Amino acid sequence: MALSRLLPRPNTRTKTTKESTLPKVIAFANQKGGVAKTTTTLNLGVAFKERGFRVLLVDLDPQGNLTMSQGLNPDAIERSMFDVLVHRIPLEDVIEQREVDLAVSSIDLAGAELALASQIGRERALEKALASVRERYDYVLIDTPPSLGLLTINAFVAATSVIVPVQCEYLSLRGLVQLENTLSMVRENLNPVVEITGILPTLFDKRTLHAREAVDILRENFGELVYNTKIAKTIRYAEAPVKGQSVLAYDPDGEAAMLYRDLAREVLNGAKPRQHA
Ligand SMILES: Nc1ncnc2c1ncn2[C@@H]1O[C@H](COP(=O)(O)OP(=O)(O)OP(=O)(O)O)[C@@H](O)[C@H]1O
Ligand SMILES: [Mg+2]
Repeated sequence: MALSRLLPRPNTRTKTTKESTLPKVIAFANQKGGVAKTTTTLNLGVAFKERGFRVLLVDLDPQGNLTMSQGLNPDAIERSMFDVLVHRIPLEDVIEQREVDLAVSSIDLAGAELALASQIGRERALEKALASVRERYDYVLIDTPPSLGLLTINAFVAATSVIVPVQCEYLSLRGLVQLENTLSMVRENLNPVVEITGILPTLFDKRTLHAREAVDILRENFGELVYNTKIAKTIRYAEAPVKGQSVLAYDPDGEAAMLYRDLAREVLNGAKPRQHA
């Protein structure tokens, strides 16, 4: 399948769109579940902060995994992104200061799509909310749910770029085409600059031929859009959120932390990462 025809744009990773409008807003999206969207949002955000950037994470997933991964209980949260999007309360009212600033989610957010559906400007609710905190951050990283519904569309409208984590075990190229189709509709109607700036291979098990083949297939179809950094499969990524920490805090000198620092370097400068064994 010649997917490159469906993704005709050149590598734009080094191009800076919306240059004058700080911050850079990156949405992490893939409608497939369990591909490491949340893990990547948190750990890349913390890696950016280590490099001196001011970072805001936004949990736009009703599952609240990002919120939980910083030690907060989404069931005990009174005001969340739901109130920001639906009741238009100020975003700063739902920001918690943890390893990085985090706009929290709660289970209420599951009702946001329905509540927003009848509102005018429903796709722009997040973009509007972010305007009030724009001066305070260099990077806003948005974690999205595993669907291409209104919450994810809100993230695409607010974003300057999209990073797509892809699980090397169960590669879904059709899913990526679907995601790109949704993005191109957003580009036509709502946000002309948003595009995929990187595809991140995750849950990579270097011992299996299957995982290496999956990366080859991604490279054949998406070329330079595929990051050189591959996030290896390791239990550290599951252990850290249980402690309410990023892997960079949980095991600062471990390989898992290094990989997200490599990714940060690559996302920031397009630089080649370290060579991995
Ligand atoms: N590189 C990795 N190696 C091993 N386990 C990982 C890795 N990355 C993430 N995980 C684990 O895999 C599970 C899914 O990861 P995560 O929650 O980040 O995916 P997601 O795409 O956000 O999922 P969802 O679609 O449900 O929001 C989690 O338990 C996480 O701890
Ligand atoms: Mg998630």
